[in-house]
Amino acid sequence: MSTAARQLDTAELEDRVKRMYEEVALEPEHEFHFETGRPLAERLGYPTQDLDRIPAAAIDSFAGVGYFHDLAAIAEGEAVLDLGSGSGTDSFIAALATGTEGRVLGLDMTDAQLAKARTLADEQGFTQIEFRAGYIEEPIVDTPTFDCVISNGVINLSPDKSAVFAAAAEVLRTGGRLALADIVSEQQLPEGVTCDASLWAACIGGAMQRDDYRTAIESAGFTIETWRENEEYRFVSDRADNATAKYGVTSISLLATKRP
Ligand SMILES: C[S@@+](CC[C@H](N)C(=O)[O-])C[C@H]1O[C@@H](n2cnc3c(N)ncnc32)[C@H](O)[C@@H]1O
Repeated sequence: MSTAARQLDTAELEDRVKRMYEEVALEPEHEFHFETGRPLAERLGYPTQDLDRIPAAAIDSFAGVGYFHDLAAIAEGEAVLDLGSGSGTDSFIAALATGTEGRVLGLDMTDAQLAKARTLADEQGFTQIEFRAGYIEEPIVDTPTFDCVISNGVINLSPDKSAVFAAAAEVLRTGGRLALADIVSEQQLPEGVTCDASLWAACIGGAMQRDDYRTAIESAGFTIETWRENEEYRFVSDRADNATAKYGVTSISLLATKRP
């Protein structure tokens, strides 16, 4: 675990993250340090015809940071794991691609997000999706192998990113894809930022330096195939904006494949 992770109060962080994303699930119209909802999804590149086919209430609570489904290229019948599925936008989009012959497992630690996603999946007949409670650092899965692991705006929130990438590698078949969007930083963030649980919960404080982030993925057994900057993503509060400008905190999307 990194120095920053050791100095951060991880129990406080988990509590703050849960409280913040409970609010995103229950009261998405509130103002956060980050944008939410359909206008954000459209600006990031989610095709409107896909958004039109998934539950609107899930999109209201969308808090992703980039588009990556073109990189994931999920095929019919595939098994997909969504790390930090929130209210389910990316799980629902993935389920459009897998069809009912495939399977999507959405994993999240916040009860309100899970409850919302489950209700919406039931109401709209997405029988190929299961939303399960758990931690992305140690996902409990019963399918031995997945074809694709996806994640949107979540891994930056984890104090142990190497554990997340190792877990993704463990559940993927050889050649399987890791496709995600996340927040990284140009410069290593100072302790004043990395030990601030509220900035961390707002998807800034936990941003890993980009070269370290790439190394963490490669060390877990992946080859990075595509790395793309998401210039359309921006934070909304002054505090978040300042950290972004000062340390080069940005959104990226990437595709990596599991090495043999
Ligand atoms: C920024 S939101 C993104 C949600 C969703 N991917 C989306 O795009 O709308 C982060 C989500 O990750 C979940 N999360 C954060 N850290 C987690 C962890 N260590 N284990 C499981 N879920 C986590 C939160 O509960 C929250 O729902």
